[in-house]
Amino acid sequence: MTRIALVTGGIGGIGTSICTRLAKDGCTVIANHHPSEADAAAAWKADREAEGFRIDTIAGDVSSFDDSARMIKEIADRHGNIDILVNCAGITRDKTFKKMELAQWEAVIQVNLNSVFNVTRQVWEGMLERGFGRIINISSVNGQRGQFGQANYSAAKAGMHGFTMALAQEGAAKGVTVNTVSPGYVETAMTLAMDDTVRNSIISGIPMRRMAQPDEIAAAIAFLASDQSAYMTGANLPVNGGLFMH
Ligand code: CAA
Repeated sequence: MTRIALVTGGIGGIGTSICTRLAKDGCTVIANHHPSEADAAAAWKADREAEGFRIDTIAGDVSSFDDSARMIKEIADRHGNIDILVNCAGITRDKTFKKMELAQWEAVIQVNLNSVFNVTRQVWEGMLERGFGRIINISSVNGQRGQFGQANYSAAKAGMHGFTMALAQEGAAKGVTVNTVSPGYVETAMTLAMDDTVRNSIISGIPMRRMAQPDEIAAAIAFLASDQSAYMTGANLPVNGGLFMH
């Protein structure tokens, strides 16, 4: 049976690897992007086609409940019901707390955490009714241990796992699993945006002495999306090169 997977933030650094990996594993994959990224999404789709992947793209502002509802309906019309949802859309607005403005707090909570409600809420009842579903929330090592300059991001990422644990209990008896993956530092545009000195000092503190490649994160998501992970729910899977162990 071909599973239908939606990856929010699907054209981003980690999102791209998740999409191609799930496509390799036989899923029909839809990559969500922000409505303002229409040109980038068209180029992204063409690049994936050149690599041999047919991955659909869909615009949707996941920080808006109404636009998320519209997007899920459009996917249902084009492809059918979503079996696998990967909540991967996320942003950073790093600032020491004394300099952090309300807008930077709100943007990160809205895009990284409220989006998880906005999108999951649209697919949840259908998954319960059909007796199968996989929700995978992409959090961060910094939601587990906190990070200097990321009070907003760490709060949102920790909140994602609270959501995971609560929802996992509601889905457990119905074949719907909910899990978190907490990547460490991954080589993407998001980590490249950090100052070089800061980045190098972070890398020197990682026991593996390197950042992750996006494919190394996608491998964990592929497992959680698969039928083999059926007995795993409410978990928080760290993929962080040893940066945080607990
Ligand atoms: N611990 C303690 N003190 C630190 C520190 C740390 N980790 N990092 C910086 N400081 C100190 C500096 O030494 C400096 O001290 P003094 O004022 O005494 O000289 C002070 O903090 C600098 O404070 P400022 O308010 O002036 O900060 P800034 O504007 O220079 O930079 C920052 C602040 C932008 C947050 C910068 O520290 C930074 O980029 N930090 C990295 C944040 C980070 O890890 N982001 C991850 C992005 S990737 C991602 O989020 C993906 C993921 O999931 C992992």
